[in-house]
This record gives sequence, structure tokens and C-alpha cells, in this order.
Amino acid sequence: MKTIIEPFRIKSVEPLRKRTPEERAVLIERAGFNLFLLNAEDILIDLLTDSGTSAMSTQQWAAMMRGDESYAGSESFLRFKRAVEELTGYRHVIPTHQGRAAERILFSVMCRSGQVVPNNNHFDTTRANIEFTGARAVDLVNAEAADTQAPLPFKGDLDLDALEALIATEGRERIPLILCTVTNNSGGGQPVSMANLEGISRIARRHSIPFYLDACRFAENAWFIREREPGYGKSTAREIARRMFSLADGCTFSAKKDAFANIGGFLCTNDDALARQEKDLLILTEGFPTYGGLAGRDLEAIAAGLHEVLEADYLEYRIASTGYLGRHIASGGVPIVEPPGGHAIYIDAARMLPHIPRHEFPAQSLAVELYRHAGIRSVEIGSVMFGENAKHELLRLAIPRRVYTQSHIDYVVEAILEVAARKETLRGYRITQQPGFLRHFSCRFEPI
Ligand code: F0G
Repeated sequence: MKTIIEPFRIKSVEPLRKRTPEERAVLIERAGFNLFLLNAEDILIDLLTDSGTSAMSTQQWAAMMRGDESYAGSESFLRFKRAVEELTGYRHVIPTHQGRAAERILFSVMCRSGQVVPNNNHFDTTRANIEFTGARAVDLVNAEAADTQAPLPFKGDLDLDALEALIATEGRERIPLILCTVTNNSGGGQPVSMANLEGISRIARRHSIPFYLDACRFAENAWFIREREPGYGKSTAREIARRMFSLADGCTFSAKKDAFANIGGFLCTNDDALARQEKDLLILTEGFPTYGGLAGRDLEAIAAGLHEVLEADYLEYRIASTGYLGRHIASGGVPIVEPPGGHAIYIDAARMLPHIPRHEFPAQSLAVELYRHAGIRSVEIGSVMFGENAKHELLRLAIPRRVYTQSHIDYVVEAILEVAARKETLRGYRITQQPGFLRHFSCRFEPI
């Protein structure tokens, strides 16, 4: 059979509430044209993020019932630890309440003022946590990624020459660690090749610099390697993932992505001394090292999710269904970051709306219009989110895992093509209030 179906059936449903376009026009204006400030009940299809929004399986719900809530040494922790160890092979597994808590602990221990941390592209919380220590976060994604239209297989690759050059100019001692994000969320959800991870690993070892993966979407990355990189077509996703982890010295992980959990994360390392310091910090804010800010039932959900995410039927469906959205809007003339990523489709809003200059936030304008038109929530990944550091003006449509069916996605395609047909009518925005550090969560806009 050629049709790739959802490899699950639905046992429990959540109703969707419809608002009229007129109601939505009022709601979005009241929210200062910031989609983070809308109430979720006013949204029909929520593509704000794939993080913490997955549908859990019957296995995960069953596992939650046996959650052992002992403060120390809970059975659930041991099952969680075993699942992470079997996958990653790392010596120390430190649970955290989500990915950014793992980042904060890792960078607090490793980074100092004046240091520099390279990555393909830093996610916003990653950059913020590095810069909070006084270190600088530097993006070294391959030059190929600059052309959003080039349909190349591994546009998440880190530029190895640029990495060597950075080490040469800064000096090894000013680079506390090298990061690589798989898949590269801020760069269009593009995968990183095994060859590139091997290259980073070689350079890191030669200079004795620790190498860490930001592994939030490791399984999707593994599937892309299987599909696109010569020599991996017969390997399982688990084998590929294990090899990816083996090339690094540790990782940060948000279980809200590729572990289908609604909350959770972890930090891993092979370094005993570092692990001791990390556990000390963990106790200050997250909790005892056998629960780290999570309930025993959450640890169970993560352990079960880490097994399920590597199933071939699931990954084939996941990557194909994201690609389905991308192909259908691209063939209708909407410029997307090519090729489609694993967890999201990114519309190149600067290219789609050339009449709106970058400082008037074309991707924000498109996000507002998609909401008004069809009740779809998406997120701007451009100058609103990254300010001066923005490389592109992208609108991200992130697909929650196992949540929406093909007809939901067909509705999204129809809505985007209808808005695209009258794109000249869209206008830019200016920011009227921008409180806070990560301004995209809270700023308000007005139309120009
Ligand atoms: N790293 C990457 C690559 C991420 O995409 C995220 C979160 C984090 C780290 C932080 O993890 O949310 O568990 O604290 N990304 C979400 C998103 C929020 O919408 O892309 P967290």
C-alpha cells in the first residue's frame, strides 16, 4: 500500500471550539496581536508548538498509573534511567522538569563570562541561558542554510571550517563546550548528518572541548539520516540514535518533544566531576536527583515515550505527514523552508510578503491573519523572537505529535492558500510594549 496512515486509532477525544472570523478579529486585537496572549479555547488548530502538546499512548497512561512517588530511589526513576541509558549510553542521567532547566544547570556549571559557545543554531532558551552566565552564544550553521529554497538534505549541519576558525581565534580555553541541536529547530527543523556529527566530535576531541547534543528531536533526526544519508538505509532508528549520542559527551533533552511527554527533560554527561556539581545545583531548584522536578508518573511517561518514538511506523508517518503539509502549500506557491523539516513547516514570510519590510515583522503579520481567517495559531520565528540575531523572517507551523488528523491538516492547507491569494492586503506591525527578556511571549503590537 502506498498510503501512509496514522499508525494509531483514537480512544479519547477533545472537542474543538469554533469562533467566527468576526469574534477572532476582536480577540486578537484584545491580545495585542500577540498569539501567545490568546486563550487556548479561542483557537481551533493550535500549531504554536510541538512541545508538551503530544497525545500520549495507552502504554504511557498505563505506565503513569504505576508511578512510584517515593522521594528517593523510586522505581519509576530506575525505569526512566534505564530507558535513557539504553538509548544514550551516558554515565549520568539527571532528570529535570523540562529542557531549559537542563540547559540552565549545564551552562551554570560549564560557562563563565567572556567565553563563547558555538552551536548550529541556538534555540531561544539555550541562547538566553548561555548569555545569562555572561558567555556568548554563536550560531555556526552551514552556509547552505541561508538559502531557504535550496532542497538540500542536511541543512542543519554545523560549519566545521567556521568551528575550527572560532577555536583558532578564541583559543580552546574560551570555549567551554560545543553544542549541536538535532534537529535544528531555529534553522527550520532541518536535520544534522551523521558525517557532520562525526566531524564535530573529531574536532572537539582534538581540542579537548566537551561536545553536547541538544537532543530534543533526536528521533526525527535519526529518521532523516536513515532516509537521506548513504549507508544508513538498513539501520534502525534506535541504532542511528545510539550512534549520534555516542559521538558526544552528554546531552540536554526536553521530553516534551520526542518523548511524547507533557512535561519533563534530562541532562546527561559522562563526566563524574561535572555530574556531582550538576546534582548539587539540581537539588537547589529542581529536586532530589531521583526525581528532578518531576512526579514519578512523569518519569514513567518519558520512559515509555522514549521507546515508542523510535518505532519505524511512527517515524515514517511523522516525517511523511509533516512533509504533506509542506508539499501542499509549496505547490500552491507559498515559499517554505525547503525541504520540509521533521516537526514543523516554516513559511519564509519575507519572501512571501516582500511588501512588508523586516522591521515591520512579516511573519507576525501572517500569523495574525491565519488566526483571524481560520483560527490557526502559529508562531513567528524572526525579528520578533530573535531581534537583531534573526537570520530569516519565518512563520512556524509546528505539528503536535499524534494529535491532528489529515483532515485537520487539509483545513490548514486550505486556509494558508486562501490567505496567500490575498497576501497584498496584509500589513506590517510595530511593537508598542516590550516587557521582559524573551519579548515575543509578552510584547504587544499595533498594525501600521
Ligand atoms: N532546545 C530546543 C531545540 C528546543 O526546541 C526547546 C524548546 C528547548 C531546547 C527547551 O526545552 O521547552 O522543554 O524547556 N522548544 C519549544 C518550541 C518551546 O516551541 O520549539 P523546554
